[in-house]
Amino acid sequence: MISDPPTPQRIADLIRTSFPLTPVPSIPEIQLHKANPQSGLWRFAEADRAFDSPYWAYHWGGGLALARYVLDHPETVASRRVIDLGAGSGLVAIAAALSGATQVTAADIDRYAVIATDLNAAANGVTITTLHDDLTTGLPPEANIILVGDLFYDEALAERVTTFLDRCLAAGIAVLIGDPWRAHLPRSRLALLAEYPGHDFGSGNATEPKTNAVFAFRPA
Ligand SMILES: C[S@@+](CC[C@H](N)C(=O)[O-])C[C@H]1O[C@@H](n2cnc3c(N)ncnc32)[C@H](O)[C@@H]1O
Repeated sequence: MISDPPTPQRIADLIRTSFPLTPVPSIPEIQLHKANPQSGLWRFAEADRAFDSPYWAYHWGGGLALARYVLDHPETVASRRVIDLGAGSGLVAIAAALSGATQVTAADIDRYAVIATDLNAAANGVTITTLHDDLTTGLPPEANIILVGDLFYDEALAERVTTFLDRCLAAGIAVLIGDPWRAHLPRSRLALLAEYPGHDFGSGNATEPKTNAVFAFRPA
């Protein structure tokens, strides 16, 4: 029987105990709570009707590339107010905080992602403000730069995010995107900044060589 949804404290305890802190591939500066075969995701689904795909519990090519880029180019975010849109585990937000951003906000529509980001920020010794919200429906936020790791995996979402990012550009906010070349990426709007060989959970067992890329989002 499904009882009341777990409290934030209960979710944090479950993440701490079932998703161990593990090094991030190609980003030894950061450790994150991630799923392993013992995590028992079914227990979360049983305990909470609202529990959905735990994207925060896996490594995504876009976030890996964008976090690496930010750490290697701290001037991108140093002394700036940064938003990590669709933060998942908070990897990109943590990279921005480690690289000298004055203020970092991580936003996600999944409450588990927000709690995981809080735990991951603390584990890496950085301060991040978390928001359980869909920023794409609102006005451009108070920020200098928006970082978007792997948010173009669905056609409708990609369209909404692109429209929102256009409003942000018009408000003078810079936008960087990390992505493993997914189908719905708005390629005509992007300038390639860097490419990294690598891992991506969303590509399943694909064996062909692939890269994860970082782009600047440009006006139409
Ligand atoms: C593929 S994961 C990427 C996570 C992280 N950025 C990374 O690269 O590791 C996509 C994340 O975006 C979140 N998401 C989806 N739609 C969103 C929206 N409209 N606003 C904020 N977050 C959203 C999902 O809940 C999920 O955590």
